[in-house]
Amino acid sequence: MHVGIIMDGNGRWAVERRLPRAFGHKRGASKVTEIVTACPDLGIKTLTLYAFSTENWNRAAHEVASLMKLFRGYMQSKFLQLVQNNVKVIFLGDSSPIKKVIVDQMRKLEEATEKNDGLTLNIALNYGGRDEILRAVQKFGMDASTGKANPKDLTVESFEKYLDTKGQKNPDLIIRTAGQQRLSNFLLWQIAYSELYFTKTTWPDFSVEELSQILMEFDQCGRTFGGN
Ligand code: FPP
Repeated sequence: MHVGIIMDGNGRWAVERRLPRAFGHKRGASKVTEIVTACPDLGIKTLTLYAFSTENWNRAAHEVASLMKLFRGYMQSKFLQLVQNNVKVIFLGDSSPIKKVIVDQMRKLEEATEKNDGLTLNIALNYGGRDEILRAVQKFGMDASTGKANPKDLTVESFEKYLDTKGQKNPDLIIRTAGQQRLSNFLLWQIAYSELYFTKTTWPDFSVEELSQILMEFDQCGRTFGGN
């Protein structure tokens, strides 16, 4: 099973407690560890987390900086745990505007976990669904111009090879925390037939119990993929 999560509400969680927003993100990062650890027992084979969108650069500079620091700290402190727990980490998104020290860490983590075959953990960082599709079209265009690909032969399957999620199953279920019912440019191509679940719980307050409850509901919802 592939589950995608839009981890929203860190800021509101903090503001409600009169704490700085950065504190909410820090709590959010602890929640990531908790949920990642629970995935194998819950039957989740792939987890895709929306960590930073292409639009998140528009936040205050200090918030962007604190999020980047948090991602870097997470990769450093969880490195061994992820390697040893058989987690395969893949970053989705355009890494080109991200600082080199962080990108180096991302590549190191991907390489060190490349052969792991337990949970696949996709971390969407500087990710946008439209941006991913545009980058895929650009790559396809390059291949078409050099004769490596023929536009006439393009199919859903052959196009998917140009996406950041190449070789992966599409998500079965997308969960968004913190009440808003929108997709905010998350996995636009891949969610064509995904179930959507919106919970009012903020990400720092989300729990393994709630995830397990959502999965039980999902089990009963009979997907038809347009058939009957
Ligand atoms: C949305 O909450 C959350 C984010 C933009 C960042 C998500 C990042 C984490 C959970 C931190 C750690 C992640 C990893 C992979 C280590 P918001 O700030 O938009 O909340 P608000 O809508 O209440 O303001």
